[in-house]
Amino acid sequence: MKNATLHQLKVFEAVARHKSFTRAAEELFLTQPTVSMQVKQLSKAVGLPLFEQVGKRLYLTEAGKELYATCREVFERLSQFEISIANLKGLKQGTLRLAVVTTAKYVIPRLLGPFCLRYPGIDVSLTVDNHERIIDSLIDNRDDLYILSQPPEDLDVAIHPFLENPLVVLASCNHPLAHEKNIALKRISEEPFIMREPGSGTRKSVQKLFDEQGLTLNVKLDLGSNEAIKQAIAGGLGISVLSLHTLALEGTNSPLTILDVESFPIQRYWYVIYPAGKQLSIITQAFFDYLLNEGKTVAEQTAFQGIFGQGRTVENG
Ligand code: PGA
Repeated sequence: MKNATLHQLKVFEAVARHKSFTRAAEELFLTQPTVSMQVKQLSKAVGLPLFEQVGKRLYLTEAGKELYATCREVFERLSQFEISIANLKGLKQGTLRLAVVTTAKYVIPRLLGPFCLRYPGIDVSLTVDNHERIIDSLIDNRDDLYILSQPPEDLDVAIHPFLENPLVVLASCNHPLAHEKNIALKRISEEPFIMREPGSGTRKSVQKLFDEQGLTLNVKLDLGSNEAIKQAIAGGLGISVLSLHTLALEGTNSPLTILDVESFPIQRYWYVIYPAGKQLSIITQAFFDYLLNEGKTVAEQTAFQGIFGQGRTVENG
């Protein structure tokens, strides 16, 4: 293994975790031929094949399984080493790795502004993905802190709520229901509906509410992006339920409006989450304290001016 490099191990680990060269390439921002080449060279250094392809599926060989377990140990040790070094450097220098669900991308970058001004030597890596993929990162312990609206029930984690994240019904401003009051949920279930993709936490919450009422949504379209859904609503394709925070930068001329629907807004929180017992670096601890102590105030200072400017109000928004 003398000729193997840390980079090759990282590439191999990603392929083994995803069981896919394509997804590993996407995660690492590499091309697929580069990923294949790195794995091929590593396999040569090991002297045995690391993967085998059966039909369309990729499997680890016995040697691959051994190497995968070794990689996990090596990277775990390296991340502990990074924490020790970061702590020696204090808050002057280091990296903060955050993984957040897509609704939180409307707030976390704004909260990072004042934090990074306070600690200019800190670099931030921010991963934004849907609920299911952020849970995968949490299970793999890939980041320092995780922000989710639905804490996992089956994982041993520390959970701290820090900000409300209500879900509201959005429609185009000229939708026939735009000026109605207290619209029945059943009426909403009859409208063409644009739904977030499977794996989304927003989707889960919407589905749960309608299931509890015994109602079936008239889903016309699945879209994997809050922004794409907003555009589709504006384009008259239907209505949807999204986080109120997705309206954060909508100006006074926004083509979207919030419908007044019974049982809405769905009240939820964002939670800062990390694996129970995980040792937080000084930088991570500083951001954690900042979120819990100042996050709400900083978020509210800049939130929803556009939407409130139009005279539309939302309870608990
Ligand atoms: P989503 O998560 O991006 O998975 O919909 C949002 C949330 O649960 O708030």
